[in-house]
Amino acid sequence: MDNKNIVLSGIRSTGQLHLGNYFGALRNFTRMQHDARCFFFIADYHSLTTHPDPGQLHGNVKNILSEYLAAGIDPEVATIYIQSDVPQVAELSLLLSMHAYVGELERTASFKDKIRKQPDNVNAGLLCYPVLMAADILLHRATHVPVGKDQEQHLELTRQFARRFNNIYGVNYFPESVPYNFGQELVKIPGLDGNGKMGKSEGNGIYLSDSDEAIRKKVMRAVTDAGPQAPDSPMSEPVRNIFTIMKAVSEPSTIDFFTEKYNKCEIRYGDLKKQLAEDIIRTVAPIRERIADIRSNDKYLHEVTAEGAERARRSADATLRDVREIMGIHRF
Ligand code: TYM
Repeated sequence: MDNKNIVLSGIRSTGQLHLGNYFGALRNFTRMQHDARCFFFIADYHSLTTHPDPGQLHGNVKNILSEYLAAGIDPEVATIYIQSDVPQVAELSLLLSMHAYVGELERTASFKDKIRKQPDNVNAGLLCYPVLMAADILLHRATHVPVGKDQEQHLELTRQFARRFNNIYGVNYFPESVPYNFGQELVKIPGLDGNGKMGKSEGNGIYLSDSDEAIRKKVMRAVTDAGPQAPDSPMSEPVRNIFTIMKAVSEPSTIDFFTEKYNKCEIRYGDLKKQLAEDIIRTVAPIRERIADIRSNDKYLHEVTAEGAERARRSADATLRDVREIMGIHRF
């Protein structure tokens, strides 16, 4: 990562952050902030596609903001802002939508998934979700986007829109933004319920705000199986999931220890879970302790978001000036 790179990422304000958000995104934000020009925002416009509850939105934004800061994003170093404080993104989204095809938007996995989950609310905002996301990224001409594996397809679309824009107008303006995780594969943290990913709306999450006791309880209840029946047998999905989470939070020697026990059919899942719970607590507890303090400091939160919005708007204005000119929109 060199300091010519521009990093951007965001998280929707739909609840509290869980370990998936932390290892897929937030931890990378804090690691990248000193090595590149970074923008980290709270995607409140995006959250309106699924949670249009005005009474909860502000509190949800405040949660994510407090969690960003508690996890160690330094607002002196990185720009932290709220998406709706920079409405320029809506204009860029509109302009990009002129070159986004309905067919490709309808084929997006996240759209198909939402149609299944909320058949009574298939709104145009859902369809255009990837265009708004591309606008978030291209608004600052970001080169690197730290996200979890579930966002891969959205990033592919962003690159597609950028390439198309450059081709149509014969410019080399937008970069091809790549998803990023320190040269490693993008992460997918599974839930503890045996299958699928950890998600804010799946009810299977361990949250950064969870108490030690809540974490222990959730981990001890995690789904496993009857145990390996023969040496070196492959792991079932629920057990593999526990090891996957362990790889994120535990020391390599701990993982080796339990892998060997598994392979020799000597594993006791109770011990595995106890160790996992303590290792999760080691990650979560220091963050949790900072969240409450930060969340109650309205003055500080106001300062951070006001300053962030101003910096983000400056960057957005510069891009929009260029894009309007490239597309032939001129002032008299
Ligand atoms: P969202 O709010 O669903 O999730 C935020 C981030 O957390 C990651 N994540 C996970 N990573 C690993 N394992 C999991 N189980 C897991 N669950 C969530 C997501 O990959 C994401 O990085 N569309 C985005 C928000 C967004 C955005 C953007 C992101 C809007 N505009 C521009 C990057 C750039 C979303 O819904 O993330």
